[in-house]
Amino acid sequence: MSIVFPRWTNAVPGVLVATLGVLGLGVVWATWYYATPDFWQVGYEPDQPVAFSHQIHAGQLGIDCRHCHSNVEQSGHSNIPDTATCMSCHTGAGEAGYLNASLWAVHRGNSDLVRIRAAYASGEPIRWRRIHKIPDYAHFNHAIHVNAGISCYSCHGRMDQQEIARQVHSLSMGWCLDCHRSPEEHVVDVNDPNIRRITNLAAVEKQLANRPAQLATGVELVIQNKLQPPQHCGACHY
Ligand code: HEC
Ligand code: HEC
Ligand code: HEC
Ligand code: HEC
Ligand code: HEC
Repeated sequence: MSIVFPRWTNAVPGVLVATLGVLGLGVVWATWYYATPDFWQVGYEPDQPVAFSHQIHAGQLGIDCRHCHSNVEQSGHSNIPDTATCMSCHTGAGEAGYLNASLWAVHRGNSDLVRIRAAYASGEPIRWRRIHKIPDYAHFNHAIHVNAGISCYSCHGRMDQQEIARQVHSLSMGWCLDCHRSPEEHVVDVNDPNIRRITNLAAVEKQLANRPAQLATGVELVIQNKLQPPQHCGACHY
């Protein structure tokens, strides 16, 4: 009588269970890996060495983004301000040199500002932890986007309301391409005094939310300024 199931088949159920188990773990790992905020980084909000608030400086005080991120229109890279930029307002020269006497009374002992003054005096830079970062194999240029009429708002959200800086968009390839396919939804007039160019995030948010009006002017601006956001791989990967 021939053997229908040879002896080695005894092992089949065991191997099957083991294989499925490994596959299952793989799926769980992949889901965890890709769904984890550290991968997409939306909401990434590290502790910073000094409690700097955009909500106070850019929001309440209305300081233009470019006062501190002064390279953003000229360079591919948007700089983080050095301590000297902070010291232009938070001087350690004492009451007479300070913004005003009552602020000096409050800020004099402020531990964050004490640290800024010490850093400036020693020449040791503040080591801010970087939040936004795309991989090295992809290229991004701030000046080109900002000069094309894309506001900081479209990529960084309402930074002027953030007490602690955090990332609000994924910065994934799909996210880049979404805008490259329909820039008219995001482009604003860089010469419009009502939106103080593109760093008035509240005004830009309001304008983009009014879709019919935005699409009408957006389409016109794309044609007028000959905007051609690329979709071919070599534009961003080289
Ligand atoms: C008074 C100076 C100052 C002003 C004004 C300012 N920033 Fe900043 N910004 C900083 C400093 C300092 C940091 C680094 C510390 C931190 O992340 O909070 C920073 C960080 C950032 C980051 C995160 C950088 C990273 O690590 O990825 C973004 C994005 C940003 N600023 C955008 C803006 C925008 C948009 C505006 C205008 C609405 C603005 N900033 C106005 C000083 C300023
Ligand atoms: C153009 C002027 C100006 C610049 C530049 C500036 N600040 Fe300020 N900052 C102010 C003023 C004004 C206040 C007080 C706001 C208030 O209390 O209403 C303040 C408040 C602060 C406070 C105290 C916040 C609190 O909790 O009361 C810190 C910390 C601070 N700034 C850090 C920084 C750092 C770090 C930089 C540089 C990256 C910087 N500032 C650049 C004007 C400035
Ligand atoms: C089209 C999208 C886009 C616009 C518009 C934009 N950013 Fe960014 N920003 C990015 C991306 C993407 C990164 C990460 C870049 C990288 O990793 O090289 C970034 C990074 C930054 C950083 C961190 C740089 C560092 O090295 O720590 C700062 C600061 C910043 N942006 C400020 C601004 C300001 C201010 C504006 C408006 C004047 C602005 N950005 C407009 C997409 C944008
Ligand atoms: C909110 C809209 C928007 C987003 C988001 C955006 N872009 Fe763009 N991008 C544009 C526009 C508009 C242009 C066309 C500029 C022109 O033609 O002058 C452009 C042009 C470019 C160019 C060609 C110019 C150059 O720098 O060589 C590259 C590359 C580019 N973008 C990369 C990226 C990458 C990478 C991302 C994502 C990290 C991104 N962009 C996200 C709107 C956007
Ligand atoms: C507008 C800019 C842009 C264009 C055009 C673009 N990419 Fe990307 N790509 C990115 C950015 C930014 C990332 C990194 C963010 C991420 O991992 O999603 C990326 C990531 C990738 C990755 C790694 C994906 C991963 O999950 O790790 C591959 C592969 C890739 N791109 C291939 C391509 C190919 C192929 C094309 C042409 C069909 C292309 N890209 C066109 C911006 C772009």
